[in-house]
Amino acid sequence: MAASKPHPFAFYLRIARLVKPFWSHIAAFGLLSLLATPLALLVPLPLKIAVDSCLGSIPLPHMVSALLPATARPARASVLFLAAGLLVAVALLSQLQSMAASLLGAYTGEKLLLAFRGELFRHMQRLSLLFHDSKGTAESLYRLQYDAAALQSVTIENLIPFLSSALTVVGMLYVTLRMTWQLALLALAVCPVLLLSGRRFRQGMRQKSREVKALEKSALAIVHEVLQGLRIVKSFVKEGSEEERFVRCSAEGTRARLRLAFIQGQYGLVIGLTAAVGTAAVLVVGVGEVQAGALTLGNLLLLMGYLAQLYEPLKSMAKKSASLQTSLAGVERVFALLDENPEVPEKPNPRPLARSSGEIEYREVSFAYTSDRPVLHEVSFQIAAGKSVGIVGETGAGKTTLASLLLRFYDPTEGQILLDGVDLREYRLADLRNQFASVPQEPVLFSTTIAENIAYARPDASMQEVAAAAKAAYADEFIARLPQGFDTRVGERGMCLSGGERQRISLARAFLKDAPLLILDEPTSAVDVGTEAAIVDAMARLMRGRTTLLISHRQKVFVNCDLMLTVGKDRPIVEASDSLAIVCT
Ligand SMILES: Nc1ncnc2c1ncn2[C@@H]1O[C@H](COP(=O)(O)OP(=O)(O)OP(=O)(O)O)[C@@H](O)[C@H]1O
Ligand SMILES: [Mg+2]
Repeated sequence: MAASKPHPFAFYLRIARLVKPFWSHIAAFGLLSLLATPLALLVPLPLKIAVDSCLGSIPLPHMVSALLPATARPARASVLFLAAGLLVAVALLSQLQSMAASLLGAYTGEKLLLAFRGELFRHMQRLSLLFHDSKGTAESLYRLQYDAAALQSVTIENLIPFLSSALTVVGMLYVTLRMTWQLALLALAVCPVLLLSGRRFRQGMRQKSREVKALEKSALAIVHEVLQGLRIVKSFVKEGSEEERFVRCSAEGTRARLRLAFIQGQYGLVIGLTAAVGTAAVLVVGVGEVQAGALTLGNLLLLMGYLAQLYEPLKSMAKKSASLQTSLAGVERVFALLDENPEVPEKPNPRPLARSSGEIEYREVSFAYTSDRPVLHEVSFQIAAGKSVGIVGETGAGKTTLASLLLRFYDPTEGQILLDGVDLREYRLADLRNQFASVPQEPVLFSTTIAENIAYARPDASMQEVAAAAKAAYADEFIARLPQGFDTRVGERGMCLSGGERQRISLARAFLKDAPLLILDEPTSAVDVGTEAAIVDAMARLMRGRTTLLISHRQKVFVNCDLMLTVGKDRPIVEASDSLAIVCT
């Protein structure tokens, strides 16, 4: 994974670019959140009015007295009711504000996440098989499902509330400074401690969050792998050891999460304690000032209320910065995935290809999955348009690899492959792949109905066409025996069907896709001899007029092939003969 450390500014800029399409929603959410500040300033006011103007005899503040009928001196009872009414009104407004903000926040966040996940999924599908083979699916799954959500929490749950908290701090500060600047400065004296401890803890939290994420992903990978291979796990009675592996990995995750929680707790403690020290200092000095008559009791209470609210956003900023670090670690991981380049790139101005004639040439093609494991070495051969080629070779010799190169699942390490005399890399990738109907060695079915699986390449195919394809692949008989026929759901990866049945559905899919080139990788490996003979017959019809690469370990399958190729395991050979003879060099 590309884990190069981006400059923090570039990192935030990238987040900003991502959320840009939603800026109007985010701005509206931000403004709505900012309303919390003036409302928070009003919260301690009723208490001050009650103490100073109802219990005491200090005149009402100017703006408040305007709410009462213009008499020389309002009755204490009406002042009290005013204070009580104000309290309820402020609470109501606060609740409405927070409800509206959270609704808009949820809406914006979900929209943002959907767009982000969509982009991530698109990118994942474009990444090469080599990437997915080596990283495993759980990795991508975790990033898509969990890490992507971090972008939402960065913007909606952290950044905007963070800004609104910061603004509240500024508002509170302004008001307290105006009331009594000496006390306000005293309260502020603790701020450097808050800032410094924040700096110190953030780094540790981000580091721990990264660890937690890596461990959670590993646990998910175990579940994914075990469930996919559950038949093997059960047959080797390995449930116990798999459970142990999972629990061990999860326990490590738990320990890492606890360590993270501990750091967060420590941070909370430092913040809370610092705030308390500040408040205590103001209390001591403030009471002295009230005794000396420099401050009214109501104003002291107002000040204490504001102080509590000054520290509250500071505390919540600290808490937010803890979860912000976790989210940023997630966003980092998603960016790393987005930075992976597809290893099978498309040219800037690719060549369109409507329908290929089917002429193939391999020119000195070498290929290695990893540099220390070469598979093909300087392979050269030609197949004329419409010819069918049988490919044989020892297991692991590179037959499947040879065919994969044609579909550009991988690009040759050296040499080139030409289709209709043009290098494959020149073509538009989608156009190129559309030229092939391929039956892979491991049939891949999706968890929908049989009909939809057959019509995968041509969803618009009529039911008659689907049935004809099934018949051609000798799949019609077993489908007819199923209670729901073509509407039978095949289960995840087609697990509700037998190996041979899956293979025939996969073959039917190739029959339905009217492509000029065919790749059949052991299309009959899982069927009985009788069915094989029938399928060979059917394949002969399918292969007519199409360039075909037919890979098999069974000789009988090759009866209709024009040429034979042998892929040698350790030798750089693939040679075409124009007879049925198998060439070994
Ligand atoms: N994704 C991969 N990553 C690394 N090595 C791979 C990968 N796929 C295959 N190989 C290796 O490449 C070699 C050729 O594999 P390939 O699947 O092409 O063989 P094959 O001729 O089709 O064999 P079989 O007859 O068993 O299907 C093997 O040695 C295999 O271990
Ligand atoms: Mg193979």
